[in-house]
Amino acid sequence: MASLLVLLLPALLSLAFPSAFGQPAAPAPAGAPRNLTAILVKGGQYTTLIRLLKETQLDQQITSQLNNSFNGLTVFAPTDNAFNNLKPGTLNALTQQQQVALVLYHILPTYYSMEMFQTASNPVRTQASGNDGVYTVNITGTTSQVNISTGIDTTSITNTLNSASPLAVYSIEKVLLPYDIFGAKPPASSPPPAGEKPGKSPVASADSPGSAAAGSGGSNAGVSLKKGFLGWSSLVGVGLMGVVVNVL
Ligand SMILES: *[C@@H]1O[C@H](CO)[C@@H](O)[C@H](O)[C@H]1NC(C)=O
Ligand SMILES: *[C@@H]1O[C@H](CO)[C@@H](O)[C@H](O)[C@H]1NC(C)=O
Ligand SMILES: *[C@@H]1O[C@H](CO)[C@@H](O)[C@H](O)[C@H]1NC(C)=O
Ligand SMILES: *[C@@H]1O[C@H](CO)[C@@H](O)[C@H](O)[C@H]1NC(C)=O
Repeated sequence: MASLLVLLLPALLSLAFPSAFGQPAAPAPAGAPRNLTAILVKGGQYTTLIRLLKETQLDQQITSQLNNSFNGLTVFAPTDNAFNNLKPGTLNALTQQQQVALVLYHILPTYYSMEMFQTASNPVRTQASGNDGVYTVNITGTTSQVNISTGIDTTSITNTLNSASPLAVYSIEKVLLPYDIFGAKPPASSPPPAGEKPGKSPVASADSPGSAAAGSGGSNAGVSLKKGFLGWSSLVGVGLMGVVVNVL
């Protein structure tokens, strides 16, 4: 009996502590993948998102933010299919600032495991912001399903691409469309009723939440989005200069 135990003991121990017995150890936390682009490349169906991250230089911002923040990040990664299913021309109709905001809208400034979504307190802040403050999403989760809604569209997490803290990356089948960009159009975009004098509606900016982002060319939109960047970038440092210069 005792000898059987002696025979079994190493096997039992090796189950409990594999690395102690020369088997491949689990990757150390320090080596946890933090390179978003590499994670997306490996995923194989995120070329549009990778291109946007590169064009906006947000890939670099994310790398340095991950290096400097204790909270980690959560990224919702729309597949190429998701981008292809947008109405034709949607991306091209956005200013570069809006493209940056769109990408940032897919990033939460905190690491969320799948379990943590179940207790997320809505609305959840994203990295994007504009005239009306931080853009938010609502997240509802059960053990089997996590939904993300923007007020414009709703989608579910279909796959976990990276779960190791500090960087959670989840695949989604729709591009998250921020209400602040794709919601109500400013009154100016509809033809004024006949007979109305243009000077008669000075309140356009006060009652049109969509005007900031609807691409009507208003200078307010640019300023406020830039403020959004800068707020975000204070975590990140001078690396942002590149983005701002590029955008301007
Ligand atoms: C991240 O991964 C991409 C793709 O594999 C690579 O081109 C890039 O150099 C990596 N960045 C860093 C900071 O390691
Ligand atoms: C991360 O931070 C450390 C020290 O804080 C620094 O030495 C290293 O260069 C940084 N790496 C990146 C990719 O920013
Ligand atoms: C997610 O959305 C689907 C379809 O809209 C719905 O049936 C489901 O109940 C939602 N689940 C959660 C956890 O909100
Ligand atoms: C998000 O959740 C908040 C709080 O539950 C709610 O007031 C708001 O209407 C929701 N928005 C959307 C777009 O679902």
